[in-house]
Amino acid sequence: MTEQRPVASALGDALELRLFNYRDTTPLRSGQIDDDPYGGGAGMVLRVDVVAAALDAVYGGAPEHRVIALSPQGRQLTQPVVEELAAEERLTVLSARFEGFDERIVEHLCTDSISIGPYVLSNGDLPAMVLVDAIARRLPGALADGSGELESFSAELGGGLEYPQYTRPAEFRGWPVPEVLLSGDHAKIERWRMAHVR
Ligand SMILES: C[S@@+](CC[C@H](N)C(=O)[O-])C[C@H]1O[C@@H](n2cnc3c(N)ncnc32)[C@H](O)[C@@H]1O
Repeated sequence: MTEQRPVASALGDALELRLFNYRDTTPLRSGQIDDDPYGGGAGMVLRVDVVAAALDAVYGGAPEHRVIALSPQGRQLTQPVVEELAAEERLTVLSARFEGFDERIVEHLCTDSISIGPYVLSNGDLPAMVLVDAIARRLPGALADGSGELESFSAELGGGLEYPQYTRPAEFRGWPVPEVLLSGDHAKIERWRMAHVR
């Protein structure tokens, strides 16, 4: 994902990405990072001491910025949440796998818990990429000028869905592009577009 826009455009300029593996800093033997759930049941749970050790190793203690646990139980990711996070100078994003986090990680080591949607994925890899992509495209230099403003969910469109877009050919299989978009009359086009925000 780091080779493709918008992440590639923002990378090294507005965006610095650092990736860490809990295994590299775990205080447990043989790279162990998770354990059986207390109370029994299937699956493994990411240990609180492992995540604390990772944060200590990277930040020398509790970070001063927001630390986000990716979890299907978290606050739903929406465009306003993306805007809020994109305004932060620095973020740490934690992901888990199997049964997820020991709840003490979310309670005591994180400031936020975020879900990318009401469904369960196998681990936090894709949620982390979704979050980074959504944030990166809101950073300076990530998109061509103006292309990030009039978009679905933007304040400029009142949080609505973007008007329909068309490109060449002007007619295909008898399906024409709305006449007004070919008119060159920018005021009329603007009115048509705003009337078609859904
Ligand atoms: C299989 S899930 C754990 C599900 C958890 N046992 C539950 O029932 O809520 C493993 C990990 O994948 C990540 N994950 C899965 N679905 C996610 C979602 N919708 N949003 C954010 N992270 C998710 C989280 O890091 C989660 O801890």
